[in-house]
Amino acid sequence: MSRLFLVGVGPGDPELLTRKAERVLREVDVIAAPVTAPSESSQALGIVREFLDERRQHLLPLLFPMSSDRATLEPHWQEACRLVAERVDAGKTVAFITLGDPLFYATSLYLLERMRQDYPEVPVEVVPGVSSISAAAAEGKFTLAEGAERLAVLPATAGEAAISAALQQNDTLVLLKVKPAFGAVMALLDAYPDARLLFAQRVGMADQVILSDRAAIANHQPDYLSLLIVRQTKR
Ligand SMILES: C[S@@+](CC[C@H](N)C(=O)[O-])C[C@H]1O[C@@H](n2cnc3c(N)ncnc32)[C@H](O)[C@@H]1O
Repeated sequence: MSRLFLVGVGPGDPELLTRKAERVLREVDVIAAPVTAPSESSQALGIVREFLDERRQHLLPLLFPMSSDRATLEPHWQEACRLVAERVDAGKTVAFITLGDPLFYATSLYLLERMRQDYPEVPVEVVPGVSSISAAAAEGKFTLAEGAERLAVLPATAGEAAISAALQQNDTLVLLKVKPAFGAVMALLDAYPDARLLFAQRVGMADQVILSDRAAIANHQPDYLSLLIVRQTKR
């Protein structure tokens, strides 16, 4: 039956795709992939290419520029929804692919929101994915939380006050989107000399970087696909 699937494709390693995600991706008529510029290739598409039959399945790039400004992004979400709804109305199944999990800091959240609003008749199914946090913790064999511990997740762009408060209130803090605030975050962590750190960049990809030495982390230049985990308990 025609519908839209929001499919999490995991952080980078095609083996981290769930069996359900693989089945859906093999079956659908259209693969809709987010790109940040018309000339850019989709990271998510790179992960799933081996499961696709590009002679039968249609690729639909959807443009979402790198911006946190809703006014800039709004027309792109509208256009993406229109393109998807057009295909579902024509009887097609469409999979919108997302890095990691589709309901966790992802473009697919906005697509879901707008689809519900503008095309409520379009059935939507969500296929969860392995998030970059789980994959990073696995690569570093780094405990995220146990027992009654508390774990917080923040974008590093939340600001120093929010990060300090989260560090005081939680055992483990995961910071996503660390690139723009990396220097400030590392400086702030000087006040937590006993905390253990795990830095992960492009986890699951061929060029992944996993670091746990504080000096090595501080000297590294992160890219957009980087996260930092700070853990204040012994284990
Ligand atoms: C828009 S969020 C996407 C999160 C994604 N939906 C998930 O479940 O992992 C983008 C941020 O997630 C983190 N991220 C996503 N993929 C990553 C990867 N392969 N390695 C390290 N961090 C990643 C980075 O912090 C990046 O700035």
